[in-house]
Order: sequence, then C-alpha cells, then structure tokens
Amino acid sequence: MPVVNYLRISLIDRCNFRCQYCMPSEAELAWLQTSERLTDPELLTLIEEVFLPLGINRFRLTGGEPLLRPGLEQLIHTLCRLPGVEDVALTTNGFNLAQKAQPLYDAGLRRINISLDSLDADTFKQITGRDRWQQVWAGIQAAYQVGFDPLKLNVVVIPGVNEGEVEELAALTLERRWHVRFIEFMPIGNGPLFDQIGWVDSETLRQRIRARFGLEPGFVAGNGPADVFRIPGAQGTLGFISQMSECFCDRCNRMRLSSEGWLRPCLLNESGQINLRDPLRAGIPIEHLRQQVQDLLAIKPDIHFKGRDKGIQGAYRRTMSQIGG
Ligand code: GTP
Ligand code: 5AD
Ligand code: SF4
Repeated sequence: MPVVNYLRISLIDRCNFRCQYCMPSEAELAWLQTSERLTDPELLTLIEEVFLPLGINRFRLTGGEPLLRPGLEQLIHTLCRLPGVEDVALTTNGFNLAQKAQPLYDAGLRRINISLDSLDADTFKQITGRDRWQQVWAGIQAAYQVGFDPLKLNVVVIPGVNEGEVEELAALTLERRWHVRFIEFMPIGNGPLFDQIGWVDSETLRQRIRARFGLEPGFVAGNGPADVFRIPGAQGTLGFISQMSECFCDRCNRMRLSSEGWLRPCLLNESGQINLRDPLRAGIPIEHLRQQVQDLLAIKPDIHFKGRDKGIQGAYRRTMSQIGG
C-alpha cells in the first residue's frame, strides 16, 4: 500500500462558477456559515499537531474556489513555512488569478492547477456558467509569468461539448511549459448530466493525440493520480486522470479535509469519515484526535476498495465543490 502523505484541504465550499460537471446549474447549495468553517488557527493546529506527525506533509488547497477564502495569502505564507511541510499546491478556477498570482507567489506558493475546459469563450461559458474565458486566460498567463512551476491546466472532457478541442488543448504544451491534464468526467456533482452524455476514456484521447503529434512517457512533479506523457519535443506534458476507465485506488496516497472539518479517506465513499472540528472546539486533547486519524489511516484501504466495489456510479450526497475535488 502506498504511504498516505497527501492531504487535499477544501478551504471553502463556495464557488463563483457553476461548472456543469460539478454542480447542477439550478442548484443553490446551502453554503456554510463562516463560523462553520475551520479557522486558519484551527487548520494550522491540525496540520502541525495531527497531520505532520503522522507523515502527511504534502498539501493541496482546494474549494469550492479557494481564492474566495479571506486571508488566503496569509494562510499560505504560514503553511509554507511550517517545519516539515514538503509541498503546498493550489487548485483554482482562475477567475481572479490575474490579480492574485503575484501575491500568492510572494506568499510562498509555487505549484498551481487551474481549470481550463475550453479555448473557446462560448464553450467556456456553456461549461462554467460564466462569461469569464478572457479573465481566466489572463490569470493563466499571469501565473506563468510570475513563475509558477509546474503550472497545470485541468480539462474535464465532456462528450459533445469540449471533446473536439483535445488536440488544440494538447498543443498548448508545445511551446509553453504548461502541463495539460485531461480528466474523465465522473458522476459526482451532476449525475443526471453524466447519465445523459457519458464520458470519454483517456485511451481514446491518447490515440487521437498520438495520431496527430506522437506521444511518449513524460514526467512532472505532483502527488495526484495523473498518468503523464509528452508530445516529443514539447515543453510541457500531458496528463490523463482516468478514474472511470482505471481504478487507481491501490495507489491512493491521499485523504480529504472538508472546510467544516470532516476528514474523508476516500472521494467515492462517505464511510469512515470523522469530524475533527467539533472535538477540537470542545477541547478534546490533540493526541486523541491524532490517534483517531491514525486509526483511520489503518483502515483506509478497506474503505476505498469497498467503495469502489459499489461502483463509481453510486449515489453521492455531496458535490465536488463540497468535498474539495
Ligand atoms: P498534483 O498531481 O499534485 O498536481 O495534483 P492533483 O492532480 O491531485 O490535483 P487536482 O486538484 O488538479 O486534481 C485533478 C483531478 O484529479 C480532480 O478532478 C480530482 O478530483 C481528481 N482526483 C484527485 N484525487 C482523486 C482520487 O483520489 N480519486 C478520484 N476518483 N479522483 C481524484
Ligand atoms: N468529474 C471530473 N472532474 C471534476 N471536477 C469537478 N467535478 C468533476 C467531475 N464531475 C474537477 C475540476 C477541477 C478539480 C478540482 O475537480 O475540473 O479540476
Ligand atoms: Fe467551481 Fe471548481 Fe466546481 Fe467549477 S469545478 S463549479 S470552478 S468548484
């Protein structure tokens, strides 16, 4: 079993986009109140006194949209400097990254993953529910100029919507050190859409890209499940995240912490999750929480394998924006 050393932290459940694969457009989620979210000191206490001592030293900040969290730069500044922290990265929709790229870099962040599902402004609007292609593109350019490395672009491939753009998106890696990742659409967040249109498997995309440009094994730093390739001679790489066509549970190295403090051992399975916020606020000794997390780590493999057996298409009560991708 791989060592679990990677924690995905959802900093906020809110999002200012409405990506059709993530939340159904008509849904207004019951957003958490600020008081329900883990505060910065609570989060930092958990990281320092629970996760780091258990060997979990690689962190990804997600949402919802993490740039909506007030005081994000200060949190990153502190987190990056905690002794023992090996890696801090952020996943964003890029909506005000043009303004935030420099302050985030100055705070100490070096790795950033940005959603970019289309190169066409109309298709982008159709997918995200927002007319913000120009702004996100400017954000990506700003992040590149500021020096984020690796800079990854996430594309959820949606049949009949952006599926035709795969070669064009892959070509972004030719001249730039950008790392484009194609993600198989999962039935989380918008099950009805998934049932209606289905998903495209990574192997089909690889065949198309191979036929057009050629493809060889590649490498880029990361903690996630992407299989990495490269167009020969390209500056950047291509990643494929294939949670539908492949089971990568047996190499799962991660846990997820929601913004209200639920620690979840598996994206696809709610069982086993424990709440860390309430005992922390109730003054339960931190050693007790650490022991609980250690016990959860011990049973984690059973949890995800069982979850997978039930099938990825099981009923999900929470959206990606709440769980943190
Ligand atoms: P790095 O490799 O460190 O750059 O990060 P990452 O790929 O883990 O981060 P990112 O937030 O960009 O995630 C990309 C996609 O991978 C998202 O759609 C995630 O939901 C998906 N993903 C990450 N971990 C898991 C997992 O444990 N299970 C499943 N099914 N999908 C995952
Ligand atoms: N299927 C696949 N990926 C998804 N994401 C959100 N919802 C889904 C889904 N249903 C991705 C976003 C972002 C990451 C955090 O999760 O595109 O890149
Ligand atoms: Fe927001 Fe990300 Fe979900 Fe899109 S995928 S609605 S940007 S949380």
